Amino acid sequence: MAKIGDIDVGEFPLLLAPMEDVSDPPFRALCKEQGADVVYTEFISSEGLIRDAAKSVMKLDIYEKERPVGIQIFGANLESMLESVEIVEKSGPDIIDINFGCPVKKVVSKGAGAGILKDIDLMVSLTEAMVKHTKLPITVKTRLGWDHDSIKILEVAERLQDVGCKAISIHGRTRAQMYKGEADWRPIAEVKDNPRMHIPVFGNGDVDTPERAVEMRDEYGLDGAMIGRASIGNPWFFREVKHYFKTGEHLAPPTLQERVEAARRHLQMSIDWKGEKLGVFETRRHYTNYFKGIPHFKEYRMKMVTSDDAADVFKAFDEVERDFAGYEFV
Ligand SMILES: Cc1cc2nc3c(=O)[nH]c(=O)nc-3n(C[C@H](O)[C@H](O)[C@H](O)COP(=O)(O)O)c2cc1C
Repeated sequence: MAKIGDIDVGEFPLLLAPMEDVSDPPFRALCKEQGADVVYTEFISSEGLIRDAAKSVMKLDIYEKERPVGIQIFGANLESMLESVEIVEKSGPDIIDINFGCPVKKVVSKGAGAGILKDIDLMVSLTEAMVKHTKLPITVKTRLGWDHDSIKILEVAERLQDVGCKAISIHGRTRAQMYKGEADWRPIAEVKDNPRMHIPVFGNGDVDTPERAVEMRDEYGLDGAMIGRASIGNPWFFREVKHYFKTGEHLAPPTLQERVEAARRHLQMSIDWKGEKLGVFETRRHYTNYFKGIPHFKEYRMKMVTSDDAADVFKAFDEVERDFAGYEFV
């Protein structure tokens, strides 16, 4: 059984990765329903939070039904990070996660995200200060290192654990790799194999089939899998992996009815959460995957992604339901 602080997250939990503009409350709720054991918000700027920037503050919203949920924050300034911990606490998350892995230039150039991988002492002291500042469990998400020549993840993980970090999720790429190449899970397994490590070590990067999740569990011996891109427009990925764990067999893909229903609920929850305009706009990115495989779908997809009017999008869902009834996905 893996535990994050006092939170029991089950045996080999599946975690929904933090993803900017994707891991919002509606999407997290859908993933939770389909078997995600822990969900994370997208990264939230500590500077934005303390400035009370509406966009950052809105990202703190959580639904009761998605627990346990971690709110992820990023920053490199101690004062701002501590102040934002206090703001985050008011939203009542179960976990606070620190982003030490974002490779994007505008984040890294300020020494935040993966930028901190160049200053391990700061990474450790920031984590320690945050641990001391809250009763909530602090977890860290990071990468293997800054670049291939500076991979120190073994030392980093141990030091983070020693200052009270309650779990670590490691993306098996360096900052220099961005998203290129293949994630290397071997250094993550070395972290797990370190006899001094006792906190959960979650693997991340390229878990895109149930077989890969089994590999991460059985061959690499990690404590859980954090899943990102494979879940976009496919919240069913979690149940597929769990079914495969249990039976060794692949679950049939979701039916058309399930897909239409998920699209409807996703859109409705998004509208309820952020209003019609933003709700309609930001849910668009999921439709291609929801309905992937349906032939001659362009006309329907265009209706879903071009109208600003929610009623038109719901009407397009109805048409898909009617015109493709009984369509068998492979
Ligand atoms: C669209 C997108 C947004 C992301 N945003 C975040 C983020 O806010 N915080 C974070 O720690 N990682 C972020 N990531 C990285 C993912 O959490 C994850 O580490 C990466 O996608 C590798 O896992 P995967 O192969 O399962 O997708 C993002 C990735 C994607 C594709």
